[in-house]
Amino acid sequence: MPLPLIDTHAHLDDDRFSTDLPAVLDRATAAGVTHTLTIGIDLPTSRAAVALAGRFPQLRAVVGIQPNHVSEAGPTDWDEIMLLAETAPSVVAVGESGLDRYWDRAPFDLQEDYFARHLQLARRLAKPIVIHCREAEADVVRMLRSFGGPIAGVMHSFSGDAATATACLELGLHVSFAGMVTYKNADALREVVKVVPLDRLLVETDSPYLAPVPVRGKRNEPAFVRHTAECVAKAKGVSTDELCDATTRNAKALFGILGNAEG
Ligand code: NI
Repeated sequence: MPLPLIDTHAHLDDDRFSTDLPAVLDRATAAGVTHTLTIGIDLPTSRAAVALAGRFPQLRAVVGIQPNHVSEAGPTDWDEIMLLAETAPSVVAVGESGLDRYWDRAPFDLQEDYFARHLQLARRLAKPIVIHCREAEADVVRMLRSFGGPIAGVMHSFSGDAATATACLELGLHVSFAGMVTYKNADALREVVKVVPLDRLLVETDSPYLAPVPVRGKRNEPAFVRHTAECVAKAKGVSTDELCDATTRNAKALFGILGNAEG
């Protein structure tokens, strides 16, 4: 049996899983993935995440409004997100939130407004925050510093540089790597792995997006997190077993996940 792993970020409500999610989750279990966090990007997908976590005991939910979707939020959506985060027992974190300058889908000041709301909600509920950052590293670090550490949470699918990783680590955050770290041209990102201490590392798939090598180009799914773990272990200079053990322990502690698949 492979050593346990936790996929800390997947979009299992995605249409691409609508016909075969039970089989996808069976493959994850067979690959040693004991738990997967399924995450919302707006109110409907946050509700879907909570519903999925109610159906499958190995899933946990994360609820929030992703920066590219803040313009579409209705007037009461944020209140509904807060209610879900406060009341649904399967919700282990707030997100995904953050800032994104790559896509021009929402005014930046509105993204900042929602990022601040997510930070405050997470702190009020003593839950970690899941942070999305794309080409907005300086802005994310600025907002995190002004909010003040320590901040419990994770920089998801990290793609920034070592200085950004270090700044986030200093604020108390974890750093999670996704399939991108396995790509041939990702030497710089593999160098960043080295600056993240073993006790702050996490792994994720960000399914169904960006599947890792050697399944790059396929629909991504939680079972594939092992490929990313193997690559991160190599970059970090530790055994895959050590990496699995550390990241699973980190994920359990950060997200308050107890026990094994049924726990
Ligand atoms: Ni995501």
